[in-house]
Amino acid sequence: MPFDRSIKIAPSILAADFANFGAECAAVESQGADWIHVDVMDGHFVPNITFGPATCAAIRPHIKGVMDVHLMIAPVDPYIDAFADAGADVLTAHVEAGPHIHRTLQAIRGADMKAGVALNPGTPASAIGELLDMVDLVCVMTVNPGFGGQKFIDMTAKISELRAMISDRPVHIEIDGGVDPKTAPLVAKAGADVLVAGSAVFKGGSASNPAPYGENISAIRAAANGTWT
Ligand code: DX5
Ligand code: ZN
Repeated sequence: MPFDRSIKIAPSILAADFANFGAECAAVESQGADWIHVDVMDGHFVPNITFGPATCAAIRPHIKGVMDVHLMIAPVDPYIDAFADAGADVLTAHVEAGPHIHRTLQAIRGADMKAGVALNPGTPASAIGELLDMVDLVCVMTVNPGFGGQKFIDMTAKISELRAMISDRPVHIEIDGGVDPKTAPLVAKAGADVLVAGSAVFKGGSASNPAPYGENISAIRAAANGTWT
């Protein structure tokens, strides 16, 4: 996984057909997706339940590129090895998910995955000031986690602050929630490079009619790169 700050579009399969994850992942990858974003929810840390490591393992063979797993669960530590075994490339835990995020991030890297830390909209950038040398990705939530299709919350000041804090460290800034061609330029300009998008990618298409996925991905990428007309 070589590091760069070019814009990467990461469709969230939370907006895909849950009965058809394998084909949906292949379809968005064939249409230009850079990473596949996989949202794990436990009904405890967030008020919704999706799926766990067994489903991630089942999806893995259908993804050629990066499997980016976003854990919205608490606790995290008992499940780290299961997600490593499932083939996660990036494993992201929330800074709000427990008192020992430092230990959690050590364990994620110790299990040979890239480590991500996510911040809810109410959490300041300073909450992860001591963690920047232990992470490969910072995920800035632009919705309160739990559901797709919510309205974008403007976190551009926090993104800019994190970009300055990260400086020249090889750490991605990922944005998750309400990303579409209108909001993508705001977050890209502030310093984000990985844009998660669920509803804005999967609308209008299906695994058997994937062309709209490609149009949606291109529109978000072009908007982020300032070339959308
Ligand atoms: C929200 C999830 C997001 C969500 C994004 O809790 O973490 O990844 O799927 O969906 P959209 O792009 O529809 O806001
Ligand atoms: Zn997510």
